[in-house]
Amino acid sequence: MSDIQSVLNENRVFPPSDAFVKQANVSGMAAYQAMVDASQKDYPGYWANLARENIQWKKPFTKSLNDSNAPFYKWFEDGVLNVSYNCLDKHLTTQPEKIAIKFEADDGKVTHINYRDLHARVCQFANGLKSRGIKKGDRVIIYLPMSIEAVISMQACARIGAIHSVVFGGFSSKSLQERIVDAQAVAIITADFQMRGGKLMPLKSIVDEALALEGCDVIKNVIVYKRAGGEMTFNAQRDVWWHDIETNQAKVCEPEWVDAEHPLFILYTSGSTGKPKGVQHSSAGYLLGTMLTMKWVFDYKASDVFWCTADVGWITGHSYVAYGPLAMGATQVIFEGIPTYPDAGRFWKMIQDHKITTFYTAPTAIRSLIKLGGDLPAKYDLSSLRLLGTVGEPINPEAWMWYYNVVGQGRCPIVDTWWQTETGCHMIAPLPGAMPIKPGTCTLPIPGIQVAVVDETGLEVDGTHGGSLVIKKPFPSQIRTIWGDPDRFVSNYFPEEMRGFYLAGDSAHRDEDGYIWIMGRNDDVLKVSGHRLGTMEIESALVSNPLVAEAAVVGRPHDIKGESVVAFVVLKGARPADSATAKKLIEDLRNWVGKEIGPIAKPDEIRFGENLPKTRSGKIMRRLLRAIAKGEAITQDVSTLENPAILEQLKEVIK
Ligand code: WT7
Repeated sequence: MSDIQSVLNENRVFPPSDAFVKQANVSGMAAYQAMVDASQKDYPGYWANLARENIQWKKPFTKSLNDSNAPFYKWFEDGVLNVSYNCLDKHLTTQPEKIAIKFEADDGKVTHINYRDLHARVCQFANGLKSRGIKKGDRVIIYLPMSIEAVISMQACARIGAIHSVVFGGFSSKSLQERIVDAQAVAIITADFQMRGGKLMPLKSIVDEALALEGCDVIKNVIVYKRAGGEMTFNAQRDVWWHDIETNQAKVCEPEWVDAEHPLFILYTSGSTGKPKGVQHSSAGYLLGTMLTMKWVFDYKASDVFWCTADVGWITGHSYVAYGPLAMGATQVIFEGIPTYPDAGRFWKMIQDHKITTFYTAPTAIRSLIKLGGDLPAKYDLSSLRLLGTVGEPINPEAWMWYYNVVGQGRCPIVDTWWQTETGCHMIAPLPGAMPIKPGTCTLPIPGIQVAVVDETGLEVDGTHGGSLVIKKPFPSQIRTIWGDPDRFVSNYFPEEMRGFYLAGDSAHRDEDGYIWIMGRNDDVLKVSGHRLGTMEIESALVSNPLVAEAAVVGRPHDIKGESVVAFVVLKGARPADSATAKKLIEDLRNWVGKEIGPIAKPDEIRFGENLPKTRSGKIMRRLLRAIAKGEAITQDVSTLENPAILEQLKEVIK
């Protein structure tokens, strides 16, 4: 509650400086309002104009929005294009020498690649993929560390019309298996190892583990990028070195021209069931969204040095590392390592060394860097910065003020960008040369996007009341379906009571200026360090342990991570008799979850009970568990509780 209170009392306002407004791509509120008006006057025409201006089409489209089969919307459907062409080939005549990527390795070594060479390498690798029989429509899993090669893989898939599905390098072999099977992928692109914080961590052996599991014989090719050159097993039939398929290939590769709606990628994300959802994105609509938000929200200029710190395993790394910056012809930094190695000044040193102008990171990173060295930014020259951004979770006003004053030195607007894996690009975010900003709010929707805060019946709530956040109209960059599960797509995002609106899954309220304040998820999804985790996924992981009978997982507010995972577990046998036994079991169960899902999903705390608090009909009362996890007194009505005595047991914390 205290966080919500401080957010509600927030009344500081920071209008953009005259100097920023003057140079901005969207300059002043009147310019923003004019765009909003244009979108309202002729909605499909507005998007069609933008799609014509921003995308290079092989064959132009004649139709803008097709909503005849709602909510399976189609945009620009008879247009033909290639996304990789739009990210690379288009720059070959205009700026072949411009640096596309400045890659900084974990150990500090920097590699530059310009647009001409990046295009050549993408073509060579695309030819390599084709030489292995990979073709348009095939699904390819990418399981790589942050690297130039990760971007090359994604671009090469896009070039040949293969559908990539990037799996974050922190996911386990079980998570990998689940995604391979669901996507029916034919190939995996991975690396021998990854380097993070001075440590070598295996990737290929995790792939090997996954491929030994059920259903993974669909994978015919494993392409291995040699990052470290350590010990590794190699299956000559199935595995091939990246360099062996890239090196001798031609440096040109005619793009596979695809329809606007051709799936560009699938990205798995957590929902409110135990099974991750394969969010399917389109080619043209998605590309358009990333380009427009680069211009409008990041106020992109050709002279910028752009740095989004997100891993390509998440949507942020898709839209603002692999696609958006390249489509704009930007110079961007890609970083292999972690913010705290060799010390908590790494980000600030990199901003200084690479003369970063636009820096985009997560509130959780900001909070941990405040804690580990709030005075460190002052030791570096951060004068190149002109714009800061945040994403992934609400930012508390204290962290916002530090980011604004200490990192941005009071000079740089902060764009707090609200969006989701499903929306493909920013939806609610300040246009920094237009909106006055306030700590803790993502402000107003980008021009063309219409949002509302509604009650359970889909009716708009008035004034500053809280409710569910919805997007009222279809938009080009939105999710097309859940891979292999169109019914879940409809019921999850377009439930009947929402009257055709897209249901985001967040609760929000508006202030007197109409600014949106995101309060958090209102489904069973947690945001731990900005990463999306389904409570049901963690529960099924726990229950799959032979010792566990039942489990319930809830989130608890955490100063740095935003939320932390707390699990309540009922064992098949007796509760642990002493604290040593309990501790050992807790460690085993945490590691079990690490193995089942990945280290990010490990519960911070596990408590044991003989049962869980349930209603007479057997429903677990999660709000009670949330209160217990926070150490709050239970003030709620417990009269419907079948077994009130259990609450006392679950309050016991094992120290
Ligand atoms: C959820 C989506 C979108 C890229 C990274 C996360 C939360 C995201 C904000 C923000 C408050 C935010 C929401 C949303 N979220 N950005 N600026 N302020 N909350 O993508 O993993 O799909 O998660 O992240 O709860 O629904 P994702």
